[in-house]
Amino acid sequence: MFSIAVIGAGYWGPNLIRNFRSNPAWDLVAVCDLDEQRARKVVGSRSTVEVETSVERLLARDDIDAVAIATPARTHAPLALAAFEAGKHVLVEKPLADNAETAALMVSAADAAGKVLMIDHTFCYTSAVQRIRDVIAAGELGEVLYVDSTRINLGLVQPDVDVFWDLAPHDLSILDFILPGGLRPETVTASGADPLGAGKACVGYLTLPLGNGGIAHINVNWLSPTKIRQMVIGGSRRTLVWDDMNPAQRISIHDRGVDLRTQAADAARREAVTVSYRMGDVVVPALKETEALAGVATEFAAAIEAGRAPQTDGRSGLRVLSVLEAASASLASGGPVRTDGATVADRELVA
Ligand SMILES: NC(=O)c1ccc[n+]([C@@H]2O[C@H](COP(=O)([O-])OP(=O)(O)OC[C@H]3O[C@@H](n4cnc5c(N)ncnc54)[C@H](O)[C@@H]3O)[C@@H](O)[C@H]2O)c1
Repeated sequence: MFSIAVIGAGYWGPNLIRNFRSNPAWDLVAVCDLDEQRARKVVGSRSTVEVETSVERLLARDDIDAVAIATPARTHAPLALAAFEAGKHVLVEKPLADNAETAALMVSAADAAGKVLMIDHTFCYTSAVQRIRDVIAAGELGEVLYVDSTRINLGLVQPDVDVFWDLAPHDLSILDFILPGGLRPETVTASGADPLGAGKACVGYLTLPLGNGGIAHINVNWLSPTKIRQMVIGGSRRTLVWDDMNPAQRISIHDRGVDLRTQAADAARREAVTVSYRMGDVVVPALKETEALAGVATEFAAAIEAGRAPQTDGRSGLRVLSVLEAASASLASGGPVRTDGATVADRELVA
């Protein structure tokens, strides 16, 4: 069992607190928030969990192995760097930081301290996304040819971020998790619209080449009266459809698609290509209904125990952040932004 303190008891912190409290791998010893009353309310009056208002005092304690940071994004880097300095493992809420440059410092500091840096890409710990990753890794879909992701609903227009920064981190972290080799697009193209004059993009489209001639497309939108959470992953063998709004059939795998057979003798001529349609079975895998954050808490402990990187480590947070920054650059320039698919993982945009 490891001991942990949660920093930040606002909207999301209580979810982490509840999960670390109930997880047998963890002993939740303290909750820290600048607002003492807020922390007291979440901890409850009869609890043995301590309340702290000073991060400095908290990090000076040697009975705490790890901290979970659920404070606003701009505070993630300073808090995490101080935690590594104090020899703690760190779980940090998404996004890893408010910019990729400081996020890269967090990754280096974790490496230098020999501590685990995990990011809470919550969706990656749902049974649906874990299954999608397994299905792709087992080759059941064949090569991934396209991904089409839709995340639209009536959303709050956020004061500090546009619709890309608000919603696309979910799609990007999922892509990073399920695609073999992670999220390493060579270019990022974003187009957005602000039809209500809110001062930022409220409707957005993001296009990322997949490197094998394939393509991923992400549609995010705050103005849609219907809530859609759907991802279609088309493979050379099968196509997977994930509909997160349909609990009875979240995932379906379709043995249906298009086969192209090129007649070798005259491959260049259009009429030499034969198209045929496969109309095979549709399989609906049974999924366990589990709370994703329980999986986050378990994976954090398992990574510390084994001295290995967690499934969603600091580098995955950095890749997602790098693509978001490229998306902002693309919106500003009105065209595709070249990234180096290899080094985008290490943050550096080359154009
Ligand atoms: N994983 C998810 O799906 C998910 C969902 C919602 C929010 N989040 C993330 O969680 C983080 C927190 O978001 P929120 O909506 O809970 O914010 P919030 O503003 O509701 O709460 C933040 C809390 O942190 C406290 N705080 C700020 N600076 C602090 C410091 N230096 N030391 C101690 N306490 C401090 C504040 O007093 C406040 O209580 C953000 O990074 C957000 O993106 C993740």
